[in-house]
Amino acid sequence: MKVTIVGTGYVGLVTGACLAELGNDVLCLDVDSVKIDQLNNGVVPIYEPGLSDVIERNREAGRLRFSTDIPEAVAHGDIQFIAVGTPPDEDGSADLQYVLAAARGIARHMNTFTVIVNKSTVPVGTADKVRDIVMRELAVRGVESQFTVVSNPEFLKEGAAVEDFLRPDRIVIGCDLDVPGLRAKSLLEQLYAPFNRNHQRTLFMDVRSAEFTKYAANAMLATRISFINELANLADRVGADIEQVRQGIGSDPRIGYSFLYAGCGYGGSCFPKDVRALMHTAGEQGMELNILASAEFVNEQQKMVLFDKIRHHFDHSLEGKHFAVWGLAFKPNTDDMRQATSRALIAELLRARATVSVYDPVALDEARRTLADDLDPDSYEGIRFSRDRDATLQGADALVILTEWKEFKSPDFAHMKATLKNTVVFDGRNLYDPVSMKKEGWTYYTIGRDAAKDGIGGGNGPFLP
Ligand code: UDX
Repeated sequence: MKVTIVGTGYVGLVTGACLAELGNDVLCLDVDSVKIDQLNNGVVPIYEPGLSDVIERNREAGRLRFSTDIPEAVAHGDIQFIAVGTPPDEDGSADLQYVLAAARGIARHMNTFTVIVNKSTVPVGTADKVRDIVMRELAVRGVESQFTVVSNPEFLKEGAAVEDFLRPDRIVIGCDLDVPGLRAKSLLEQLYAPFNRNHQRTLFMDVRSAEFTKYAANAMLATRISFINELANLADRVGADIEQVRQGIGSDPRIGYSFLYAGCGYGGSCFPKDVRALMHTAGEQGMELNILASAEFVNEQQKMVLFDKIRHHFDHSLEGKHFAVWGLAFKPNTDDMRQATSRALIAELLRARATVSVYDPVALDEARRTLADDLDPDSYEGIRFSRDRDATLQGADALVILTEWKEFKSPDFAHMKATLKNTVVFDGRNLYDPVSMKKEGWTYYTIGRDAAKDGIGGGNGPFLP
């Protein structure tokens, strides 16, 4: 099938590359000629495991091309995907200008029946706005082409996007039940048929429900994280171990184990933005989403929980202290620093007149840029960026871990002990066993597992007969 993708950002690029991998003939369009030149020369502008290989393979096979030529791109696809950004406006609502510009671009050049599929994360009702714009453009041109607008939100996780696309749990498709809508449905059924061989994964629904589903999923996941984080903070106070609690509740299939890991807060491009956008949509309807407002509030506080532990440990005097910080990206396998906890925490440490040596396996360059924007030049001076993980420990008063990169999971503890000034770790991702850490002489701060450190309660480990 011939497919056009408008927008070669994160979602567009992954979608285009993976649809080509399935054997489709894909043309990706972008207004950014520098990016298109890079892609045509085999340079992939984002870090996403496996993506470069898929792009290279399909470019060589001639199934994946990149262009800035709108008429060529619109003429190419039986299906036109819109996959452009919807950054948050100042009031938290999704800014639709790029989506609407993409729709206008398609409308200005389409001459036959066209299926416009929205993959960007957009508020309920956006398909209607896209439809209006396309109708207006066609009227201006005096063209009477049939078209339909479909919603097909993505559920890709950064760092696992290729895998998520090629092995989806579900594919949500919202389309109308009129003749053009049903025609689109059958085209999309064909496009996604490879995923339905053993199990029906496509879920057809109406357009508004599909648009809503994306926000509902992210809002639910964000709420789950804030819920467990709040319980983790309580667990620390009452001497329970949140990891044992997670297992205790996760065994109930109505609850489940996943996405219930306590940590130093969620970040990234999706959860914070989508939670706010959904609250904004509710506000437009004169409604408040109280649970979501709390989820967001708890998350902002959660980003400071480690700082509070650090400050308390050092008797409220951090001036002149030096910290090693491992993990800067908002999560592993990405260089994305958007809404990362590291930004809030490092800023707070510097404000308290401490200094930091920071390390991340992938996000160091991105962190340099982001932190330079966040901080005034004097504070920025207090950061040492290091490509050598273990060198950050030299002379540090403690180690702070903010992202659960695999390479942090089994470090050389003996070397750490020999290098750090104090045997103190503040772990925002609960990477190590608190009981063993205590036995080995570490003062090990966690999120919801501090009981072992204090030698009380459930954190002493499972009961042995
Ligand atoms: C998310 C959704 O998972 C994805 O379906 C959607 O399309 C986009 O938003 P992403 O932002 O890439 O994906 O990251 P995700 O892996 O979901 O993690 C988000 C944040 O939650 C991270 O900061 C992570 O550290 C945190 N998190 C996740 C927790 O703190 N605990 C958990 O149990 C899971």
